[in-house]
Amino acid sequence: MIVLGIETTCDETAAAVVERGPDGTARILSNIVLSQVSEHAAFGGVVPEIAARAHVEALDLIIAKAMTEAGKTYDDLDGIAAAGGPGLIGGVIVGLTTAKAIALVTGKPLVAINHLEAHALTARLTDNTQFPYCLFLASGGHTQVVAVRGVGDYVRIGTTQDDAIGEAFDKTAKLLGLGYPGGPQVEQEALRGNASRFALPRPMQHRKDADFSFSGLKTALRLEAERIAPLTDQDVSDLCASFQQAVVDVVFDRLRAGLRLFRAQYGAPTALVVAGGVAANQAIRKVLHRLAIEAGTVLVAPPLDLCTDNGAMIAWAGIEKLSLGVSDTMAVAPRARWPLDQLAADRGALLGTAAYK
Ligand code: KG4
Ligand code: ZN
Repeated sequence: MIVLGIETTCDETAAAVVERGPDGTARILSNIVLSQVSEHAAFGGVVPEIAARAHVEALDLIIAKAMTEAGKTYDDLDGIAAAGGPGLIGGVIVGLTTAKAIALVTGKPLVAINHLEAHALTARLTDNTQFPYCLFLASGGHTQVVAVRGVGDYVRIGTTQDDAIGEAFDKTAKLLGLGYPGGPQVEQEALRGNASRFALPRPMQHRKDADFSFSGLKTALRLEAERIAPLTDQDVSDLCASFQQAVVDVVFDRLRAGLRLFRAQYGAPTALVVAGGVAANQAIRKVLHRLAIEAGTVLVAPPLDLCTDNGAMIAWAGIEKLSLGVSDTMAVAPRARWPLDQLAADRGALLGTAAYK
């Protein structure tokens, strides 16, 4: 099965062609990602209107490039998948409408993919991870611990009460005058810094649930920065290191609680899977690895270019859905909000049975 995947929910315009062979193994035939970072950098964050316009300008070319690089024609495809949300609605409209147009002209099936579901299923594309596994989705927009029990069968075990984890990195970078996106900059600075210089809080630590909160940490960091201003380069590095250590400690504690809840409900997970841009952070990867070992399971961390937003994960989710007989009509609507765990209900309604996994 060969599927074209289109991703336009945030600030990456992406398209990819992925094939699943008869033996179940996946091959990424092309994976083209155009980042809009430079277009948003001056604003210190993604500007929805600029993003939508940039998607319109770039998408046709990115799709053409993905098809050419894969060496495939539209005739070779078994379906067209596009992220149908959640995300910035202007971008989602661009991607999904383009996918509808291609599906209409070629007569191929269309499937609208939940962007979070695509992140959740990436471990199956890269590592053929079997269900059930415990997902830590850590990106600029999301911080979730999810029990992935089957295609379309997700239970959210924990989430953030305020900022997303990547957002906390981005806001820290902005506060300290570092560039956008902030995560990589904070990580670089942290390498040169003293992580124990500032006593920052570890929000939500020791709670039984697996929820997160980052706004208190962000405020504490701001107060420290204001207290010692003006900041030297070393101050900035020390603040970054102290911040990152607090995040690492929080991730360890919250995910440990999440894994405990997982085990109590669903038994041992086949893996702890990480997805989202924050998975690029080496200190966080290290602590996740430790956690996985402690929980008696393995860490599956897809390569960085598949952790961040990309078309291959959308194409793969399309393959998973289409092979279960799930597709959408032209009436499928783009969605700014689309919680992952609502999918279980959607799926039941789609197939009229609760039994498919
Ligand atoms: O998954 P992603 O590419 O986009 C979505 O948010 O969907 O994630 C981007 C987020 C940004 O907040 C960025 O600052 C963060 O991931 N990030 C990092 C690192 N690289 C990217 N956070 C911490 N350390 C990093 N090395
Ligand atoms: Zn994402």
